[in-house]
Amino acid sequence: MGVTLRPGRLLYEGKAKRVLDAGDGRAVMEFKDGVTAFDGRRRDPAPGKGEAAARLSARMFELLEEHGVRTHYICYMGGSRILVERHEVAPLEVIVRNYAYGSMVRRMPFLKPMARLSRPLVELHLKDDERGDPLLLPEDVVEAGLLSWSELDALRSLALRVDAVLESFWRRRGLRLIDFKIEVARTPRGFVVVDEVSGDTMRLVDAEGRHLDKELYRRGGSVEELVEAYRELARLAGAPERLCGE
Ligand code: TYD
Repeated sequence: MGVTLRPGRLLYEGKAKRVLDAGDGRAVMEFKDGVTAFDGRRRDPAPGKGEAAARLSARMFELLEEHGVRTHYICYMGGSRILVERHEVAPLEVIVRNYAYGSMVRRMPFLKPMARLSRPLVELHLKDDERGDPLLLPEDVVEAGLLSWSELDALRSLALRVDAVLESFWRRRGLRLIDFKIEVARTPRGFVVVDEVSGDTMRLVDAEGRHLDKELYRRGGSVEELVEAYRELARLAGAPERLCGE
């Protein structure tokens, strides 16, 4: 079945992506050739990053769907674009951690970076850049009317399922999944995983402890190294199988 796309109105433009309306409840997600860190204070053009992140995200969504996780992904359009369903995204960031790192170590200095957690940890943060995406208690989420207690349980199970799928996938490819962030939309049929799953949203290290994710750039690595790492992730993950228009 061919995908006919009308020229799209810009729905959203962020630091790493542009989202364009594609009609019929769909949107084109275009990954940019740029990288930013430290709230945009470090910023560089990164030719090739958009395509590597789009291909990896497409493969990750296909993998999740193969394991029964609903996502917004429809198909890979080639280049740096994927076609997705349009959903209203919950104002939450769902983070799952297998090892202590980043903001977890900053808030709990008793933990050393890369300490293996006894069980995966699920965190909810409010998506609010001005407030620095604060960590929320389950009670905060329920009292604010964002989710019910049973939805919180469902979201937690979903996050742990996504972790199990991604963790085992990358382990088989010789990489450790430290942590990742997903975003979700609430629908009458339950949660749908939206946004992206790429080196911008997962921390992955090899046997030598080398990062293949955005941490490389945060630590002062070059753009070329970063793009090469994203391409390596995309190669390891394999090519997207669901191509638009086939
Ligand atoms: P975290 O350790 O909370 O934050 P920081 O990157 O500031 O140290 O990040 C946990 C994971 O979530 C990590 O894989 C990066 C990802 N993440 C995002 O994708 N977007 C975000 O806005 C944040 C804060 C984290």
